[in-house]
Amino acid sequence: MARPRVIVYNQVSLDGRLEGFAAGPVRYYRLGFRWRSDAILVGSATAQAFGPPESTEEQAAGGPDVAPVPVHPGFEELVEEPRALLVVPDSRGRVRNWRHALAQPWYRAGIALVSATTPAEYLDHLTRRGVDHVLTGADHVDLAAALEVLHDRHGVRSVRTDAGGTLTGALVAAGLVDEIAVILSPCLAGRPDAAPLVRLPRPLTDGGLPLRLVETAQLDDGALWLRYER
Ligand SMILES: NC(=O)c1ccc[n+]([C@@H]2O[C@H](COP(=O)([O-])OP(=O)(O)OC[C@H]3O[C@@H](n4cnc5c(N)ncnc54)[C@H](OP(=O)(O)O)[C@@H]3O)[C@@H](O)[C@H]2O)c1
Repeated sequence: MARPRVIVYNQVSLDGRLEGFAAGPVRYYRLGFRWRSDAILVGSATAQAFGPPESTEEQAAGGPDVAPVPVHPGFEELVEEPRALLVVPDSRGRVRNWRHALAQPWYRAGIALVSATTPAEYLDHLTRRGVDHVLTGADHVDLAAALEVLHDRHGVRSVRTDAGGTLTGALVAAGLVDEIAVILSPCLAGRPDAAPLVRLPRPLTDGGLPLRLVETAQLDDGALWLRYER
């Protein structure tokens, strides 16, 4: 079965953390949307930052009216048709702000990846919001199977992540990562508990994942742009 090419993309501190340092999101998103992806794979916590969840009343009614979010100044040439699909693994049905997410200028439609444990009530909610879903896996989403469905049913050939280390760890452990691109910020994280780039769910059998450096660039503030392929 065929699956899309998967690129993990993050902004990290020198000690490999995703948070606990001052690096605004503007450059991260400008460089990220520079290269075309058919789908952006967004973790469920990251997706919740698109806007507030619908209240119980809004969920029962048609949902909130959300005006389209204008393109951030300087990003206009990065919004290209066809826009990417917004894909969110969400087996627990946490993401209740789809109207806000899809008001963003970057996405043409949303797809939730769900599993056998996902509440039926959430699947109904997705249907009411016009969000398609792909059901794979018993507890968490079976990411390999879900990527195959995205490839075969939705024509997705390339995926870029916008997610934390747990989702990246699940992708790495399943052998699904083809490329890792990072902005390496010239700083250390200031929090001992700051989340790492990759949080593996289990040890890798062969001890590690060898990568080949394919691109480097120095950015204006001393940060490095680094791209590695498997
Ligand atoms: N610095 C950066 O570049 C950067 C970029 C994006 C996000 N972040 C930060 O990362 C943090 C959280 O990230 P996140 O919610 O995007 O992702 P995450 O915490 O790394 O992972 C949670 C996501 O992964 C899925 N998941 C977890 N275990 C899985 C498994 N075994 N199999 C399949 N799917 C699995 C979850 O779906 P289920 O609920 O279905 O399990 C959920 O969608 C946020 O604090 C955010 O700010 C940093």
